[in-house]
Amino acid sequence: MLLAATSTQRLLFVGGKGGVGKTTIASALAYARAEAGERVLLVSTDPAHNLGHLWEQRFGDEPRTAARLAAGEVTAVEIDPAATVAQHLAAVSTTMRGVLPERMHGQAAAHLELARNAPGSHESAILERIADLAIEQGATYDTIVFDTAPTGHTLRLLSLPAQLGGWVDQLLQNRGRSERFAEALQGLVPGGGRSGAPAEHPLTATLTRRRERFAHLESALTDPERTAFVAVSVAEPVPVSETIELASELASSSIRLAATVINRRTTVVADHERAALESEQVARLAAALPAIPIAEVARLGGALSGVPMIARVAALLG
Ligand SMILES: Nc1ncnc2c1ncn2[C@@H]1O[C@H](COP(=O)(O)OP(=O)(O)O)[C@@H](O)[C@H]1O
Ligand SMILES: [Mg+2]
Repeated sequence: MLLAATSTQRLLFVGGKGGVGKTTIASALAYARAEAGERVLLVSTDPAHNLGHLWEQRFGDEPRTAARLAAGEVTAVEIDPAATVAQHLAAVSTTMRGVLPERMHGQAAAHLELARNAPGSHESAILERIADLAIEQGATYDTIVFDTAPTGHTLRLLSLPAQLGGWVDQLLQNRGRSERFAEALQGLVPGGGRSGAPAEHPLTATLTRRRERFAHLESALTDPERTAFVAVSVAEPVPVSETIELASELASSSIRLAATVINRRTTVVADHERAALESEQVARLAAALPAIPIAEVARLGGALSGVPMIARVAALLG
Protein backbone atom coordinates (compact mmCIF):
# COMPACT_ATOMS: atom_id res chain seq x y z
CA MET A 1 0.00 0.00 0.00
CA LEU A 2 2.67 2.51 1.01
CA LEU A 3 4.74 1.66 -2.05
CA ALA A 4 1.74 2.00 -4.33
CA ALA A 5 0.75 5.34 -2.78
CA THR A 6 4.22 6.79 -3.40
CA SER A 7 5.26 4.89 -6.52
CA THR A 8 5.39 7.74 -9.02
CA GLN A 9 7.06 10.47 -6.97
CA ARG A 10 10.82 10.85 -6.99
CA LEU A 11 11.12 12.96 -3.86
CA LEU A 12 9.79 11.30 -0.73
CA PHE A 13 9.76 13.03 2.65
CA VAL A 14 9.19 10.88 5.72
CA GLY A 15 8.11 12.92 8.74
CA GLY A 16 6.37 12.65 12.08
CA LYS A 17 6.93 12.95 15.81
CA GLY A 18 10.21 11.91 17.41
CA GLY A 19 10.66 8.18 17.99
CA VAL A 20 7.66 6.95 15.97
CA GLY A 21 9.84 5.21 13.36
CA LYS A 22 10.70 7.79 10.71
CA THR A 23 14.23 6.50 10.18
CA THR A 24 13.03 2.89 10.10
CA ILE A 25 10.24 3.56 7.60
CA ALA A 26 12.37 5.89 5.42
CA SER A 27 15.07 3.21 5.27
CA ALA A 28 12.58 0.48 4.46
CA LEU A 29 11.02 2.63 1.72
CA ALA A 30 14.46 3.29 0.23
CA TYR A 31 15.32 -0.40 0.40
CA ALA A 32 12.04 -1.45 -1.23
CA ARG A 33 12.60 0.93 -4.14
CA ALA A 34 16.16 -0.32 -4.58
CA GLU A 35 14.80 -3.87 -4.62
CA ALA A 36 12.57 -2.75 -7.46
CA GLY A 37 15.70 -1.73 -9.37
CA GLU A 38 16.01 1.95 -8.50
CA ARG A 39 19.09 3.96 -7.56
CA VAL A 40 17.93 5.48 -4.29
CA LEU A 41 19.51 8.24 -2.25
CA LEU A 42 18.51 8.12 1.42
CA VAL A 43 19.16 11.43 3.17
CA SER A 44 18.94 12.19 6.87
CA THR A 45 18.09 15.84 7.49
CA ASP A 46 17.68 15.32 11.24
CA PRO A 47 20.68 16.87 13.03
CA ALA A 48 20.33 14.01 15.55
CA HIS A 49 21.18 11.43 12.88
CA ASN A 50 20.40 7.79 13.52
CA LEU A 51 20.58 6.41 10.00
CA GLY A 52 24.05 4.94 10.51
CA HIS A 53 22.94 3.20 13.69
CA LEU A 54 20.00 1.54 11.96
CA TRP A 55 22.07 0.41 8.95
CA GLU A 56 25.01 -0.54 11.20
CA GLN A 57 27.29 1.55 9.01
CA ARG A 58 29.04 4.89 9.23
CA PHE A 59 27.50 7.57 7.04
CA GLY A 60 28.40 11.22 6.67
CA ASP A 61 28.03 14.33 4.59
CA GLU A 62 29.37 12.58 1.47
CA PRO A 63 27.18 9.90 -0.17
CA ARG A 64 28.14 6.32 0.72
CA THR A 65 26.72 3.02 -0.52
CA ALA A 66 24.41 1.52 2.09
CA ALA A 67 23.20 -1.54 0.16
CA ARG A 68 23.87 -2.91 -3.28
CA LEU A 69 21.08 -5.15 -4.51
CA ALA A 70 20.65 -7.23 -7.65
CA ALA A 71 19.29 -4.37 -9.73
CA GLY A 72 19.26 -1.23 -7.57
CA GLU A 73 21.12 0.32 -4.69
CA VAL A 74 20.75 2.58 -1.68
CA THR A 75 23.24 5.39 -1.10
CA ALA A 76 23.08 7.29 2.19
CA VAL A 77 23.91 10.82 3.33
CA GLU A 78 23.69 12.37 6.78
CA ILE A 79 23.64 16.12 6.16
CA ASP A 80 26.12 18.03 8.29
CA PRO A 81 24.70 21.56 8.57
CA ALA A 82 27.81 23.12 10.11
CA ALA A 83 29.98 21.77 7.29
CA THR A 84 27.50 23.07 4.72
CA VAL A 85 27.47 26.55 6.27
CA ALA A 86 31.28 26.55 6.41
CA GLN A 87 31.59 25.46 2.76
CA HIS A 88 29.15 28.08 1.59
CA LEU A 89 30.80 30.87 3.56
CA ALA A 90 34.23 29.83 2.30
CA ALA A 91 32.97 30.12 -1.29
CA VAL A 92 31.36 33.51 -0.66
CA SER A 93 34.49 34.67 1.14
CA THR A 94 36.70 33.74 -1.82
CA THR A 95 34.42 35.64 -4.17
CA MET A 96 34.32 38.64 -1.82
CA ARG A 97 38.08 38.75 -1.54
CA GLY A 98 38.26 38.71 -5.30
CA VAL A 99 35.96 41.68 -5.76
CA LEU A 100 36.80 43.86 -2.77
CA PRO A 101 39.96 45.86 -2.22
CA GLU A 102 42.20 44.29 0.36
CA ARG A 103 41.49 46.86 3.05
CA MET A 104 37.82 45.79 2.95
CA HIS A 105 38.59 42.12 3.60
CA GLY A 106 38.40 42.46 7.37
CA GLN A 107 34.96 44.04 7.17
CA ALA A 108 33.79 41.38 4.71
CA ALA A 109 35.01 38.60 7.01
CA ALA A 110 33.14 40.17 9.94
CA HIS A 111 29.92 40.21 7.89
CA LEU A 112 30.34 36.56 7.00
CA GLU A 113 30.99 35.63 10.62
CA LEU A 114 27.67 37.27 11.50
CA ALA A 115 25.97 35.22 8.82
CA ARG A 116 27.55 31.99 10.17
CA ASN A 117 25.95 32.52 13.56
CA ALA A 118 22.70 34.09 12.39
CA PRO A 119 19.52 32.36 13.60
CA GLY A 120 18.32 29.85 11.04
CA SER A 121 21.66 29.52 9.26
CA HIS A 122 21.83 25.76 9.95
CA GLU A 123 18.27 25.30 8.77
CA SER A 124 19.01 27.30 5.63
CA ALA A 125 22.06 25.13 5.07
CA ILE A 126 20.05 21.91 5.41
CA LEU A 127 17.47 23.31 3.05
CA GLU A 128 20.15 24.27 0.61
CA ARG A 129 21.50 20.72 0.62
CA ILE A 130 17.97 19.40 0.09
CA ALA A 131 17.66 21.77 -2.87
CA ASP A 132 21.04 20.71 -4.30
CA LEU A 133 20.25 17.04 -3.91
CA ALA A 134 16.74 17.35 -5.26
CA ILE A 135 17.63 19.49 -8.23
CA GLU A 136 21.16 18.67 -9.27
CA GLN A 137 21.34 14.99 -8.40
CA GLY A 138 18.00 14.14 -9.93
CA ALA A 139 19.89 12.63 -12.84
CA THR A 140 22.05 10.40 -10.62
CA TYR A 141 19.25 8.93 -8.49
CA ASP A 142 15.84 7.65 -9.44
CA THR A 143 14.42 8.54 -6.05
CA ILE A 144 15.50 10.52 -3.03
CA VAL A 145 14.03 9.58 0.35
CA PHE A 146 14.42 12.19 3.08
CA ASP A 147 14.41 10.97 6.66
CA THR A 148 13.41 14.20 8.37
CA ALA A 149 13.67 15.69 11.83
CA PRO A 150 10.65 15.60 14.18
CA THR A 151 7.49 17.28 12.95
CA GLY A 152 7.81 20.92 13.99
CA HIS A 153 11.34 21.20 12.76
CA THR A 154 10.55 19.67 9.39
CA LEU A 155 7.60 21.95 8.81
CA ARG A 156 9.70 24.95 9.62
CA LEU A 157 12.31 23.69 7.23
CA LEU A 158 9.88 23.07 4.40
CA SER A 159 8.26 26.47 4.83
CA LEU A 160 11.65 28.15 4.57
CA PRO A 161 11.79 28.43 0.78
CA ALA A 162 8.68 30.58 0.99
CA GLN A 163 10.18 32.83 3.66
CA LEU A 164 13.41 32.64 1.70
CA GLY A 165 16.53 32.70 3.77
CA GLY A 166 16.92 35.91 5.63
CA TRP A 167 20.44 34.62 5.43
CA VAL A 168 20.65 35.21 1.69
CA ASP A 169 19.06 38.62 1.95
CA GLN A 170 21.37 39.57 4.78
CA LEU A 171 24.37 38.62 2.68
CA LEU A 172 23.06 40.61 -0.23
CA GLN A 173 22.52 43.64 1.99
CA ASN A 174 25.94 43.31 3.56
CA ARG A 175 27.39 43.03 0.14
CA GLY A 176 25.55 46.14 -1.01
CA ARG A 177 27.00 48.13 1.84
CA SER A 178 30.52 46.88 1.24
CA GLU A 179 30.24 47.60 -2.42
CA ARG A 180 29.25 51.21 -1.87
CA PHE A 181 32.20 51.45 0.45
CA ALA A 182 34.41 49.98 -2.24
CA GLU A 183 33.10 52.39 -4.84
CA ALA A 184 33.82 55.26 -2.53
CA LEU A 185 37.33 53.97 -2.10
CA GLN A 186 37.80 53.61 -5.82
CA GLY A 187 36.86 57.22 -6.28
CA LEU A 188 39.16 58.47 -3.52
CA VAL A 189 42.28 56.47 -4.00
CA PRO A 190 44.23 57.21 -7.17
CA GLY A 191 44.74 54.01 -9.06
CA GLY A 192 42.59 52.20 -6.49
CA GLY A 193 39.87 51.46 -9.03
CA ARG A 194 39.69 47.94 -10.39
CA SER A 195 39.60 47.60 -14.10
CA GLY A 196 37.57 45.10 -16.14
CA ALA A 197 34.09 43.83 -15.43
CA PRO A 198 32.06 45.56 -12.72
CA ALA A 199 33.13 44.19 -9.34
CA GLU A 200 29.63 43.40 -8.13
CA HIS A 201 28.80 40.66 -10.61
CA PRO A 202 30.41 37.46 -9.27
CA LEU A 203 28.97 37.79 -5.80
CA THR A 204 25.53 38.84 -6.94
CA ALA A 205 25.55 35.87 -9.28
CA THR A 206 26.46 33.44 -6.44
CA LEU A 207 23.72 34.71 -4.18
CA THR A 208 21.13 34.99 -6.90
CA ARG A 209 21.76 31.38 -7.92
CA ARG A 210 21.05 30.36 -4.34
CA ARG A 211 17.79 32.28 -4.34
CA GLU A 212 16.83 30.57 -7.59
CA ARG A 213 17.61 27.13 -6.17
CA PHE A 214 15.30 27.80 -3.23
CA ALA A 215 12.59 28.81 -5.67
CA HIS A 216 13.15 25.60 -7.66
CA LEU A 217 12.91 23.56 -4.48
CA GLU A 218 9.66 25.23 -3.54
CA SER A 219 8.12 24.38 -6.88
CA ALA A 220 9.34 20.75 -6.56
CA LEU A 221 7.94 20.44 -3.03
CA THR A 222 4.52 21.69 -4.02
CA ASP A 223 4.28 19.50 -7.14
CA PRO A 224 2.31 16.36 -6.18
CA GLU A 225 3.73 14.49 -9.16
CA ARG A 226 7.27 14.98 -7.90
CA THR A 227 6.98 15.09 -4.12
CA ALA A 228 5.14 12.85 -1.66
CA PHE A 229 5.13 13.35 2.08
CA VAL A 230 4.69 10.26 4.27
CA ALA A 231 3.61 10.91 7.87
CA VAL A 232 4.63 8.22 10.34
CA SER A 233 2.73 7.76 13.60
CA VAL A 234 1.90 5.18 16.20
CA ALA A 235 -1.68 4.28 17.12
CA GLU A 236 -1.87 6.41 20.26
CA PRO A 237 -4.05 9.49 20.89
CA VAL A 238 -1.36 12.20 20.91
CA PRO A 239 0.67 11.06 17.89
CA VAL A 240 -2.54 10.53 15.89
CA SER A 241 -3.74 14.06 16.77
CA GLU A 242 -0.38 15.42 15.72
CA THR A 243 -0.57 13.54 12.43
CA ILE A 244 -3.98 15.05 11.70
CA GLU A 245 -2.55 18.47 12.48
CA LEU A 246 0.50 17.78 10.31
CA ALA A 247 -1.77 16.93 7.38
CA SER A 248 -3.49 20.30 7.60
CA GLU A 249 -0.21 22.18 7.99
CA LEU A 250 1.19 20.42 4.94
CA ALA A 251 -1.96 21.29 3.02
CA SER A 252 -1.49 24.95 3.92
CA SER A 253 2.07 24.71 2.54
CA SER A 254 0.62 23.08 -0.62
CA ILE A 255 2.57 19.86 0.02
CA ARG A 256 0.77 16.62 -0.74
CA LEU A 257 0.41 14.08 2.07
CA ALA A 258 0.54 10.83 0.09
CA ALA A 259 0.05 8.36 2.95
CA THR A 260 0.26 7.87 6.68
CA VAL A 261 1.97 4.94 8.36
CA ILE A 262 0.80 3.49 11.64
CA ASN A 263 3.99 1.92 12.89
CA ARG A 264 4.59 -0.56 15.72
CA ARG A 265 1.04 -1.79 15.45
CA THR A 266 0.19 -4.37 18.09
CA THR A 267 -1.27 -7.59 16.70
CA VAL A 268 -4.45 -9.11 18.11
CA VAL A 269 -2.48 -12.26 18.88
CA ALA A 270 0.14 -10.36 20.89
CA ASP A 271 -2.27 -8.27 22.95
CA HIS A 272 -5.97 -8.35 22.18
CA GLU A 273 -6.96 -5.38 24.35
CA ARG A 274 -4.19 -3.12 23.22
CA ALA A 275 -4.82 -4.00 19.59
CA ALA A 276 -8.46 -2.94 20.04
CA LEU A 277 -7.47 0.42 21.59
CA GLU A 278 -5.07 1.00 18.72
CA SER A 279 -7.80 0.19 16.20
CA GLU A 280 -9.84 3.07 17.65
CA GLN A 281 -6.96 5.44 16.93
CA VAL A 282 -6.51 4.09 13.39
CA ALA A 283 -10.24 4.60 12.82
CA ARG A 284 -9.97 8.16 14.16
CA LEU A 285 -7.13 8.88 11.73
CA ALA A 286 -9.07 7.36 8.81
CA ALA A 287 -12.14 9.45 9.68
CA ALA A 288 -10.12 12.67 9.94
CA LEU A 289 -8.19 12.08 6.70
CA PRO A 290 -10.59 10.03 4.55
CA ALA A 291 -8.66 10.57 1.32
CA ILE A 292 -5.26 9.52 2.69
CA PRO A 293 -4.32 5.83 2.65
CA ILE A 294 -3.02 4.32 5.89
CA ALA A 295 -0.28 1.69 5.91
CA GLU A 296 0.08 -0.39 9.07
CA VAL A 297 3.42 -1.88 10.08
CA ALA A 298 3.45 -4.45 12.87
CA ARG A 299 5.51 -4.12 16.02
CA LEU A 300 8.54 -6.32 15.54
CA GLY A 301 10.52 -8.00 18.27
CA GLY A 302 14.26 -8.10 18.73
CA ALA A 303 16.95 -5.60 17.81
CA LEU A 304 15.83 -3.38 14.95
CA SER A 305 19.03 -2.76 13.08
CA GLY A 306 21.07 -4.13 10.21
CA VAL A 307 20.25 -4.58 6.54
CA PRO A 308 18.30 -7.88 6.92
CA MET A 309 16.00 -6.15 9.42
CA ILE A 310 15.49 -3.20 7.05
CA ALA A 311 14.64 -5.72 4.32
CA ARG A 312 12.13 -7.31 6.69
CA VAL A 313 10.39 -3.98 7.34
CA ALA A 314 10.48 -3.24 3.58
CA ALA A 315 8.57 -6.47 2.97
CA LEU A 316 5.87 -5.25 5.39
CA LEU A 317 5.28 -2.01 3.51
CA GLY A 318 3.35 -3.76 0.79
N1 LIG B 1 7.86 -1.72 13.44
C1 LIG B 1 8.62 -1.60 14.54
N2 LIG B 1 8.59 -2.56 15.50
C2 LIG B 1 9.34 -2.44 16.61
N3 LIG B 1 10.17 -1.43 16.87
C3 LIG B 1 10.25 -0.43 15.95
C4 LIG B 1 9.48 -0.48 14.74
N4 LIG B 1 9.79 0.65 14.03
C5 LIG B 1 10.70 1.34 14.75
N5 LIG B 1 10.97 0.69 15.91
C6 LIG B 1 11.89 1.16 16.97
O1 LIG B 1 11.43 2.39 17.47
C7 LIG B 1 12.51 3.25 17.78
C8 LIG B 1 12.38 4.55 17.02
O2 LIG B 1 12.50 4.27 15.62
P1 LIG B 1 13.20 5.31 14.63
O3 LIG B 1 13.00 4.80 13.27
O4 LIG B 1 14.58 5.61 15.06
O5 LIG B 1 12.26 6.57 14.90
P2 LIG B 1 12.48 8.13 14.55
O6 LIG B 1 13.41 8.20 13.40
O7 LIG B 1 11.08 8.58 14.23
O8 LIG B 1 12.99 8.77 15.77
C9 LIG B 1 13.78 2.49 17.43
O9 LIG B 1 14.28 1.89 18.58
C10 LIG B 1 13.29 1.44 16.44
O10 LIG B 1 14.10 0.29 16.47
MG1 LIG C 1 15.20 9.29 13.15
